Amino acid sequence: MTQTIAPQLDIERIRADFPILQQQVNGYPLAYLDSTASSQKPAVVIEAMDRYYRRYNANVHRGVYQLSEQATEAMEQARSKVARFIGAKSAREIIFTRNTTESINLVANAWGRSNLKHGDRILVTEMEHHSNLVPWQIIADATGAELDFMPIDGSGRLALDELPRLLSEQTKLVAVTQMSNVLGTINPVKAITVEAKKVGALVLVDGAQSVPHFAVDVRDLDIDFLAFSGHKMCGPTGIGVLWGRKEILQAMPPFLAGGSMIRQVGLRRSTWNDLPHKFEAGTPAIAEAIGLGCAVDYLSAVGMDAIHAAEQQLTTYALEQLAGIDGLTLYGPPVAERGGVISFNLDDVHPHDVAAVLDRHGVAVRAGHHCCQPLMEIFNAPATARASFYLYTTQAEIDQLVSGLEKCKEIFR
Ligand code: ALA
Repeated sequence: MTQTIAPQLDIERIRADFPILQQQVNGYPLAYLDSTASSQKPAVVIEAMDRYYRRYNANVHRGVYQLSEQATEAMEQARSKVARFIGAKSAREIIFTRNTTESINLVANAWGRSNLKHGDRILVTEMEHHSNLVPWQIIADATGAELDFMPIDGSGRLALDELPRLLSEQTKLVAVTQMSNVLGTINPVKAITVEAKKVGALVLVDGAQSVPHFAVDVRDLDIDFLAFSGHKMCGPTGIGVLWGRKEILQAMPPFLAGGSMIRQVGLRRSTWNDLPHKFEAGTPAIAEAIGLGCAVDYLSAVGMDAIHAAEQQLTTYALEQLAGIDGLTLYGPPVAERGGVISFNLDDVHPHDVAAVLDRHGVAVRAGHHCCQPLMEIFNAPATARASFYLYTTQAEIDQLVSGLEKCKEIFR
């Protein structure tokens, strides 16, 4: 049985919007607790994409015929919706990419290669996803820049008091996740940005886990770049966003080259299109952009503050219930400083075995290093199991997780 756990969200009604949730897995109601990896999609998003393919499928920014104009308008409307959703000044600051990873690689390559030199420093944190670490390693190698690392404490919080020591005039960029995909830690991006600006460093925020779950306003945060993915926020796969300050994006050379991103092409030299097209080479993911625009409408109608409040309540409940399981190690900070992501290990049972037993009880969780191997090393755990929540998650699903874990204990006793 599902129940409303926050007065602001009518979870029964929300769940009815998600066709995939109305099913049984291995004889149990599906308890989908892996939204951090990818969220489920409401019917309106699926239908918006279906409508594009059935009724006005055509390439964008090229045709002068009706279908192409309709497709172009729908895609550009989606861009405006995304801009409003994150408080961007202009839709031209919204670059559609494939995902968060590509957005960060765009900045690393286009901005990094033309702005970093020997002796410069890039500050990242020890809790970054590989996608906000490896691109900087590669660019540091290519440019002679060096990486610095903001450490974390035993609860998985950033050691902010280390910031003054780590930042210097040589620091050109601070790249930080707003919410950890392993620990759930919500990082104080605003405070970090204030410090970064004192030394003139730009700030790139990995918003893959934050933008889907709480209100993020790029102007309020005063950051320079924000990267996030559509598929974690009720939208489709294959579409991501890079937001950047217009003047910085304008000064950057292109990343990928080819069609659409040019203004004039000669045999030896070319010039670049205006924003955002300069960074969108080739035919874009049109249906996916339209789907993302629809997902943004959906999330906005539910309300980001209500979503966040409901997830906080669920996380509080889940942490209380899980704390009662003997032999369970929980990672991450207290609920006030985290979102709806809970990593854990059960005695010395391998997390893959835990996830397999949970699957037999209809519970879908992720197990592994979660693309954060350096973080795993700090916690001395090569892998964890991870349950994560979203606007459609119920207390009953958390109860199902807890009883699945009890079963797991019986099996591996
Ligand atoms: N970054 C995604 C996760 O943490 C894939 O599961």
